[in-house]
Amino acid sequence: MEKIVALCKRRGFIFQSSEIYGGLNGFWDYGPLGVELKRNVKDAWWKDMITHHDEFETPPGAPQSFSMVGLDCSIIMHPQVWKCSGHYDLFHDFMVDCKECKARFRADHVGSSECPLKPSKHPGEHDKCQLTPPREFNLMFKTYIGALSGEEGAAFMRPETAQGMFVNFKNVCDTQRVRVPFGIAQAGKSFRNEITPRNFTFRSREFEQMEMEFFCHPSQSFAWYQYWRDRRYNWYVNLGLNSTRLRLRDHAQDELSHYSVGTADIEYAFPFLDQGDFGELEGVAHRGDFDLRSHSEGKLVRDAAGHLTPELGPDGKPKYPGSGKDLSYFDDQTRERFLPHVIEPAAGADRATLAFLCEAYTEDEQPDDSGAMQQRVLLKLHPRLAPLKAAVFPLVKKGGMPEFALELYREIKRAGIPCVYDQQAAIGKRYRRQDEIGTPFCITVDGQTIDDRTVTWRDRDTLEQRRLPADRIVEEIVNRLKT
Ligand code: GAP
Repeated sequence: MEKIVALCKRRGFIFQSSEIYGGLNGFWDYGPLGVELKRNVKDAWWKDMITHHDEFETPPGAPQSFSMVGLDCSIIMHPQVWKCSGHYDLFHDFMVDCKECKARFRADHVGSSECPLKPSKHPGEHDKCQLTPPREFNLMFKTYIGALSGEEGAAFMRPETAQGMFVNFKNVCDTQRVRVPFGIAQAGKSFRNEITPRNFTFRSREFEQMEMEFFCHPSQSFAWYQYWRDRRYNWYVNLGLNSTRLRLRDHAQDELSHYSVGTADIEYAFPFLDQGDFGELEGVAHRGDFDLRSHSEGKLVRDAAGHLTPELGPDGKPKYPGSGKDLSYFDDQTRERFLPHVIEPAAGADRATLAFLCEAYTEDEQPDDSGAMQQRVLLKLHPRLAPLKAAVFPLVKKGGMPEFALELYREIKRAGIPCVYDQQAAIGKRYRRQDEIGTPFCITVDGQTIDDRTVTWRDRDTLEQRRLPADRIVEEIVNRLKT
């Protein structure tokens, strides 16, 4: 993991936030290559969810065809949203302090891979550590709207993007030609005042989520839950995560969130975790009708029989009243009115990016320009995720090669493909530079190019080199990006 973090810093993927002032714990900046990588992860997700979705075709494993639409909601929402969603009362972790060294951390991390007090990580005095009893700590960041700094202006930075989709359910139904079942997707920033942000970008205080709320008929909700679980797992595999390090884990009943009827986590064996441990990449939750009901009726709780019912305050009235709006759906073909159930695949863009980086990091040994064996570091990123898709080199800085190579570079750029031109240093060194940042294809212009307009195409992973006509390079890259 240290090597991956060092590479991210050295090559401009991820920097500490506000680094020149000593950094800010739990906040990260994506550098010039990191911003492209994360954007490609989000793009791959958005294309899978929205752009490439065919609403007239039933995808393999799906009960029927369906529509998908997108949203981009505000980060600060009406405070009542968080009261009805349950976040205001329930979105907390329990924290404990070490009485000896004053370290503060999550009670549920004691003894886990993430525990800072594990004897293996902190030998010595922490073995007999004294902990305070656990105390609640709400994870929402509070802020104040307008000139009012009192409680009447208090608001929260969203701790998840999901609520934007629920409160706009009716807007989407009324303005788009969608019929249940359909999904609403959104990717954007979320904020959680994590007690112990750690493990690089894995647990940060400001991060991006990619969430989708899928509204369906209650009688079909378990079939859809199965469908989305499997489809989301396969998304990671198709983009390069090795299935030996990726798993789908069903939550035990006592692990379920207050809203969930069933949840499966997609988890990855991050290298910073202990052998055999996995960290969450995405949760796929069957949320029943909890969200639409709570935004209509007010905050819900489960009664003794396990049924959801509005929570009452001391005065016998709903503790947090809902919007009072009817959020049910009328199916004009079956003439049935019902409250849709929701299946939610909720992913983290930063965690997915980190998993792709960890998976891609590879070391091997290759001969350098003099033939001596040298260690090579490469990122075996899927070509669709790689920040740069191609690099163009003139073999040497003479004989018309730089001019030819620059023209080819410009042609690739004009096709909208991220590409770099490099004529500095020996050719082997230039290949290594690109390997280390995951550029899948390098194209070298040499003496033969000037005679027959062919170039050398070199593959990052196989190191295979072959000659291709320069005029076919753009087409070749475009084809390789489709796979
Ligand atoms: N709407 C449901 C929801 O937000 P979640 O499991 O709390 O569910 C979904 O969050 C995903 O967001 C997680 O699987 C993870 O990938 C990402 N995520 C959550 N907290 C995070 C944090 N502190 N830092 C980075 N990513 C986080």
